Amino acid sequence: MEKFAMKRVDDFRLQLGKKELIPIVVGGMGVDISTAELALEAARLGGIGHISDAMVPTVSDRRFNTKYVKNKLRQYKYNVANTEKAVVKFDLGLLAEATALHVGRTMEAKRGDGMIFANCMEKLTMNAPRETLRVRIKAALDSGIDGVTLAAGLHLGSFALIEDHPRFRDVKLGIIVSSLRALQLFLKKSARTGRLPDYVVIEGPLAGGHLGFGMDWAQYDLARIVIEIREWMKAEHLDIPLIPAGGIFTGSDAVAYMEMGAAAVQVATRFTVSKECGLPEKVQQEYFKASESDIEVNTISPTGYPMRMLKNSPAIGAGIRPNCEAFGYLLDSNGSCQYIEAYNREVALHPDAKKLHVMDKTCLCTHMRNFDCWTCGHYTYRLKDTTCRNDDGSYRLLSAEHIFRDYQFSTDNKIALPE
Ligand SMILES: Cc1cc2nc3c(=O)[nH]c(=O)nc-3n(C[C@H](O)[C@H](O)[C@H](O)COP(=O)(O)O)c2cc1C
Repeated sequence: MEKFAMKRVDDFRLQLGKKELIPIVVGGMGVDISTAELALEAARLGGIGHISDAMVPTVSDRRFNTKYVKNKLRQYKYNVANTEKAVVKFDLGLLAEATALHVGRTMEAKRGDGMIFANCMEKLTMNAPRETLRVRIKAALDSGIDGVTLAAGLHLGSFALIEDHPRFRDVKLGIIVSSLRALQLFLKKSARTGRLPDYVVIEGPLAGGHLGFGMDWAQYDLARIVIEIREWMKAEHLDIPLIPAGGIFTGSDAVAYMEMGAAAVQVATRFTVSKECGLPEKVQQEYFKASESDIEVNTISPTGYPMRMLKNSPAIGAGIRPNCEAFGYLLDSNGSCQYIEAYNREVALHPDAKKLHVMDKTCLCTHMRNFDCWTCGHYTYRLKDTTCRNDDGSYRLLSAEHIFRDYQFSTDNKIALPE
């Protein structure tokens, strides 16, 4: 009798327009945790990789030795001690230039049959939400990005912001949602542009980064949301590839979603311990070491979204002076940020303190820039089971290729250890 053949991710393909891809998407991980190197590997292997558009001037400084941050700080230095940050603005020309560098150089280096998308977060409001979002997306399109995944926000006006771009109809555009309601709102508000998204990422409550749920996140279940959205789309005669994300840890987890009708899966946490990932190795060892009780979802992000992270993240409780003159990515349209308010409150309460602690909010720009906010997926505590130990007891980093191929070919919930 023929042996029962268990399915693997490689038995499926993601069809995006004319393109046929391995149905594995490496999700965007902000402030250069999903580096160009990581995205390029995913694309080389026939899947989709993401770079992120979080703090691109900062990333460009690190990647290309530009001086965007230094120059912005010099321009606004006079304001550093001021509690009001509304004067701090981004120069849109420079923002476009930095984006063009980051995206352009990445696309020039692309090899293989896969694609590279940019993760574009609406919550990076940058003291001029519409203008800076438009510039970021347009510069990415100008620089040849294959696709843009709209993230961290409802993006109700984002298609309209770029509808006059010559690539608007041919570039792949997708949106991340965590509920049917968010998808319905997006489709309704974008209908006027006469364009549907090319794919929808459905992100559940076990994902890393910011969550599209309240602090009641644990009551939600990714599979249920996927089925709800799938059934609604069927009833509406809509045919848009669905890409679940959040807690998909093995190839078999992925296959279960593909059999449920998903077109691909988006994964991230397993790649946080890849050599190509932007996290410093010291931090990657913290991810490996973490146990389930070392991970929490908290509300310290000034974006207002809950965020999952390691409890020993240096960002938690740190009371540093806001760095909006150098960064300022989370300043809202009024030039304020929840961290500034929390920080100013603590300064007023403890005027003589040498060191401040701000427990309820964190200076996310600075801490993400310095890899001190260790955001991670729920299953980070399983990363130690995906590798071997070195002689000194540390965990061995993996190649992105190893992790990608493990998702692609593994069966029976197995995880291949490195050679
Ligand atoms: C370290 C880390 C950083 C992340 N940063 C972002 C981000 O900047 N923007 C975003 O849309 N999603 C972000 N995410 C979410 C991932 O793109 C992805 O959708 C999700 O984590 C998939 O679940 P998994 O990590 O369980 O595989 C991040 C995830 C991790 C682990």
